[in-house]
Amino acid sequence: MDSDIQPPTRAGRIQTNWILAAVSATFLVMAGLFVANLWGRTAATPKVPLVDVQFLDPAPWRQTYTDLAKAKEDLSDFDCYGCHEKKKPPVIEYDEKHNIVLPKEHSNLKLGHGSHNRNNVCYNCHNEQNLVTFQARDGRELKFQDSTALCGSCHGPTYRDWEAGVHGRTSGYWDRSRGELQRLNCANCHDPHSPRIPTRAPAPPPRGLHEPATGPTPTAH
Ligand code: HEC
Ligand code: HEC
Ligand code: HEC
Ligand code: HEC
Repeated sequence: MDSDIQPPTRAGRIQTNWILAAVSATFLVMAGLFVANLWGRTAATPKVPLVDVQFLDPAPWRQTYTDLAKAKEDLSDFDCYGCHEKKKPPVIEYDEKHNIVLPKEHSNLKLGHGSHNRNNVCYNCHNEQNLVTFQARDGRELKFQDSTALCGSCHGPTYRDWEAGVHGRTSGYWDRSRGELQRLNCANCHDPHSPRIPTRAPAPPPRGLHEPATGPTPTAH
């Protein structure tokens, strides 16, 4: 069967070449105009500042005796008998308002346990007969690495919550065959001498990709 498509005529070919030449010329002129930046450029998207890395750091903010011992760090603060004499319990000094006065050797301690400083007395926790241990309310003598049991001897309900995993952070593995469960000690989050958690600024809210940054980015204190 014969095809219906006819080969282009000479006149048709000339017409096509003209059209292609005109289109090419138009594109060249437009390219020139773009290079010359005749219409200006859209403003660059402002840089969105990254979230302060401290909001992303999952490390606990305090190191306990156990952590320091594990990391082989300076434990001189815990070497009570490097300064105190055995069998001579240090006497707690008070001012006229019955607040504890700390010697300069212990000025790093911030005292404030409980409303009205109810639980600031050193020997509620430390053992005056053997300074390198704690004394729990039930008469147990506990090592420095067992401070969580010390807290538990007074904070029964919170301690039971902690044991059940609903107070304090649990990490590690759900599946115990793959690895251990990790539980932080009370003193990883609470300073034993002033256990109230200090307030801190919340992390900034999420921001749309092309939203300009308005106002100062919140930072933590
Ligand atoms: C760098 C030396 C040094 C170390 C280490 C040290 N102390 Fe003291 N401590 C002092 C001095 C000095 C005083 C004031 C004089 C005194 O009471 O002996 C003092 C006072 C105290 C008091 C009385 C507090 C007051 O306000 O009056 C207690 C309780 C105490 N120390 C417990 C401890 C315990 C527990 C440890 C170990 C965890 C320890 N100290 C480690 C130097 C030290
Ligand atoms: C000798 C008992 C005793 C021990 C041991 C003890 N606490 Fe307390 N704690 C108290 C009392 C009493 C209060 C004050 C309750 C109140 O004021 O209503 C308190 C208050 C608190 C608070 C509330 C914040 C505040 O300051 O009011 C926290 C948090 C806390 N303790 C954590 C701890 C941790 C962590 C430990 C272990 C390092 C610990 N406690 C050990 C008796 C104890
Ligand atoms: C609520 C219980 C509690 C009371 C009250 C308390 N301590 Fe402590 N103290 C602890 C615990 C728990 C640790 C160890 C925490 C850890 O593992 O880091 C400690 C650690 C220390 C240390 C060594 C580490 C450091 O932070 O410098 C010194 C020194 C000390 N206490 C002195 C005192 C003195 C002096 C007083 C009284 C003015 C006092 N403590 C009252 C629970 C207590
Ligand atoms: C992962 C961190 C973390 C651990 C571990 C942790 N806590 Fe807390 N705890 C908190 C936070 C956060 C709050 C609430 C802050 C606040 O109200 O001041 C709190 C609140 C408390 C309160 C109540 C304070 C109040 O004002 O009523 C007590 C008591 C307490 N914790 C004791 C403990 C004891 C005891 C342990 C250990 C058995 C422990 N915590 C372990 C973070 C922790």
